Amino acid sequence: MHKLMGRAVCGLSLAGMVFLTATAVFAAEQGSDVPDGVVLKSLAVFPVGVAVSAGDERRSLFKKTDQQALINRQFNSLVAANIMKMRYLHPAENRFTFDDADALANYAKEHGMILHGHALVWHPDYQVPTWMKNYSGDWDAMLNNHVEQIVRHFAGRVASWDVANEVIDEKVPAAYRPSLFYQKMGKSYIEKAFIAAHAADPAADLYYNDFNTESVPSKLDFMLGMIDDFKARQIPIHGIGFQMHVDVDYPSIAQIRKSFKAVADRGLKVRISELDVAVNKHKNLTSLTPAVAMAQKARYKEIVTAYLEEVPAAQRGGITFWGVIDGETWLSGFHKRAEWPLLFKDDYTTKPAFDGVVEALTGK
Ligand code: XIL
Repeated sequence: MHKLMGRAVCGLSLAGMVFLTATAVFAAEQGSDVPDGVVLKSLAVFPVGVAVSAGDERRSLFKKTDQQALINRQFNSLVAANIMKMRYLHPAENRFTFDDADALANYAKEHGMILHGHALVWHPDYQVPTWMKNYSGDWDAMLNNHVEQIVRHFAGRVASWDVANEVIDEKVPAAYRPSLFYQKMGKSYIEKAFIAAHAADPAADLYYNDFNTESVPSKLDFMLGMIDDFKARQIPIHGIGFQMHVDVDYPSIAQIRKSFKAVADRGLKVRISELDVAVNKHKNLTSLTPAVAMAQKARYKEIVTAYLEEVPAAQRGGITFWGVIDGETWLSGFHKRAEWPLLFKDDYTTKPAFDGVVEALTGK
């Protein structure tokens, strides 16, 4: 039996105990021995978040009301998986569309959750608004306005921002990604975005967010160089987001720990910003087998434990999972393969992965 269960049972009536036991048996049949009463956000002293679809997306939180109960119960931080990206918020040079994101901000507020903003500057072709691609005016002023308008609009409602996302190209040796922004402004676009965001909302925590910084040492080193340079020149940056779209067996936990520590040692906050644990890299699974589910549980546990042990409490910006249920993971489309990387099954019951997070958070 889960140790929290014992604690919860104190003071319960016989009927309550029978109910809880039945729940535990049901949960065990579903591959989890964590009773329904276990709530991730209550076990952590840092924000525990989840990425959600919103707006008019097919899987929007606002359409899938059945998912809301689970989200409201387990998490105290939200991030928009898509609707706060550049193309959604700033579709034309002189037009910002805030309605969907405002609705999400209201939802977060109503349910006592914080909202993390993602992402002010990001490179993918499909994300950069078409008008920006054709922009021939003053790029400094345009970028400044883009960041300023958005951050100011959400000031007081968005606690923290991914100001720049994925600006580093990981080919060896690592270098700045030759994105449109880089071509137009050189590397200065990054610091200019941070400066503009800080001016627009001095209270918001500003993050640099990237993938594979926990796995590719040269990419980590390049990022650390960027942080050191920012700090030396007092560019306002408060934290680093490690996306952590990781595999069940890669990268090594030693490299993950080293990466967290390197950032924490520089006094910055650390977020695990987009956590999911892929299990089907070799495309040999047609279902999540019990053995793989247990390996995934151990992986989640070691990652959360590493976070707790390497990042001092005051520097923990939180952990955000990139989706709720396996059936809606972005990885299936991205990798064109079946995947089961998240904490919950499609019927909203917990997976062993959830238990792994709970065990890490409770020091079990
Ligand atoms: C993904 C979304 O989850 C998908 O729905 C979308 O089609 C593509 O973007 N790194 C990031 C996130 O910073 O914004 C990406 O989100 C996943 C990788």
